[in-house]
Amino acid sequence: MSAKFERTLVTSALPYANGHIHLGHLAGAYLPADIYVRYKRLRGEKVLYVCGSDEYGVPITLTALKEGISPQDVIDRYHAANAESFARFGMSFDVYGRTSWPLHVDTTQAFFQALDQGGHIDQQEMELWHSEASDRFLPDRYVKGTCPKCGYADANGDECENCGAQYAAHELIDPRANIPGDSSTPALRKSAHWFLRLQDFTDRLRVWLDGHPEWRANVKGIAGGWVSDLRARCITRDTDWGVPIPIDDPIAQGKRIYVWFDAPIGYVTNTRQWGIDKGLGDDAWQPWWKDAGTRLIHFIGKDNVPFHAVIFPAMLMGQDGYILPDQVVGNEYLNVVNRETGVAEKGSKSKGNMISVRWFLERFSQDAARYYLAAIMPESRDAAFDWDEFRNRYNGELCDVVGNFVHRSLTMTVKNFDGKVAEPGALDADDQALLDSLPVQLDGVAEALEEFRFRLALERFIEIGRKANQYFDAKAPWTTRKTDLVRTATTLYVCCQVVRTLCMAMAPFLPAGAEKLAGILNIALPNNGPDGGDDIWTASKALLSAGAPLNTPEVLFPKLDPDYIAAFWNVVNWGCVAERLTSAL
Ligand code: 2FM
Ligand code: ZN
Repeated sequence: MSAKFERTLVTSALPYANGHIHLGHLAGAYLPADIYVRYKRLRGEKVLYVCGSDEYGVPITLTALKEGISPQDVIDRYHAANAESFARFGMSFDVYGRTSWPLHVDTTQAFFQALDQGGHIDQQEMELWHSEASDRFLPDRYVKGTCPKCGYADANGDECENCGAQYAAHELIDPRANIPGDSSTPALRKSAHWFLRLQDFTDRLRVWLDGHPEWRANVKGIAGGWVSDLRARCITRDTDWGVPIPIDDPIAQGKRIYVWFDAPIGYVTNTRQWGIDKGLGDDAWQPWWKDAGTRLIHFIGKDNVPFHAVIFPAMLMGQDGYILPDQVVGNEYLNVVNRETGVAEKGSKSKGNMISVRWFLERFSQDAARYYLAAIMPESRDAAFDWDEFRNRYNGELCDVVGNFVHRSLTMTVKNFDGKVAEPGALDADDQALLDSLPVQLDGVAEALEEFRFRLALERFIEIGRKANQYFDAKAPWTTRKTDLVRTATTLYVCCQVVRTLCMAMAPFLPAGAEKLAGILNIALPNNGPDGGDDIWTASKALLSAGAPLNTPEVLFPKLDPDYIAAFWNVVNWGCVAERLTSAL
């Protein structure tokens, strides 16, 4: 922790409660944050990790209409399902909240009012599509048509999923209502809305962004582009599903605050609710958001960069005393390799190639999923999930390098030295060199994590295992056991120290494996809470005592049988591997 900060508030993008989360979500905004938070807690630092469901917006009301249920039913279903998937994946949120919580109305309206009082919100009339048949305006996806930029025939009312273009409603070609039972041709009608004057914040945003040369290039690039052309942005919609607009005007009655205004405020609401639920009082959230000693870090996918590196910071600047993010860690996309063509494809619901987290975790372990996703994390460029690579990297790195070293070290120790860490004889140069390298290697993992270089940190963890295997093979304790028991004891003593280092180094990445290993080693892996605590990470550099009892070793990372994976290929053809992400099943 830099001297500048005394606590860290970490957020991961709030996923929409409108479908099951998939592996791309995990690799982008969740796994890196969880690794970081777990590492920081082990360092004894004060960290609060906030996430939750994003529960407003047009896609949710459309799902409800299609299924003939209420929006509340939709969000209840997916909030519960996604919270469970995250738990199975080992996510360690301090709070997993909901933007439908009543408290969120208060937080969002307070943000809106502060911006309004500061003169940063204007009312303007817009021309929007209106369906006579349904007697309603058609926000966002409620209207489809042909993209004015690329000609894509299934473009949304204000933006095109195909080419990414954004446009005014009247530019949409051949519009049609997109509501179950209504595909009529809409007409343009005037509607009053509220706009956030982002241009008021241009100078402050620029100074703030320039103060962060250390951010990833993708985040800086996208944010810089936005700041060079800021305009007023509509922050309300013609819908009844969302936070009411806190303006005493009949025009505001049938409208709600736009989901992208209220969603990031959900981080604040969830922090407030966390403090209340923990019995810490109504104001426990304040230091986390208003004390200059707090370091705020957002973990997001790259599509969320404008909101977290420009719009939400502007909204924070328009409040009284809020801090700004100190880091916005934006990951690229996780594509999926089509096994039949060998080509990496963008995940798409219609292709069915997005692998839902719950589908995956019903078939593969949490450790295997976390290991592979961390190994291919799309930090600086898009990555692709590939089944063969999944098997090869998990089996060949985690199982063969780390798992195998741990297992052979511990089984030989337990068998030959009465279930205890062996008493070493005189250390030779190899023993000493390996022991001396352990704190240095652990520092290497820490350094990479501090810099948000998760793939590098994972490689350094595996490298500890690689070096240890070389040592083990060179010392050949299975041979010396017959000729020189003191030598064998010394070798295995050193190996047990490596195992302890591996246990700590793996803890942020593979909490389940680390917990199992800590149990065998009889060491505690306490989980510091937001108040911080002891620096367990650094303490783990101390050596295990000779004679310390060990529990019966077990295989930490069972290998994946190639036939097991192939079975999914054979039974489930490409395109059907993942369940439908929006299925109710
Ligand atoms: O892109 C998404 O999935 C959004 N629901 C993310 C919101 S992040 C934050 F602003 F809440
Ligand atoms: Zn287009």
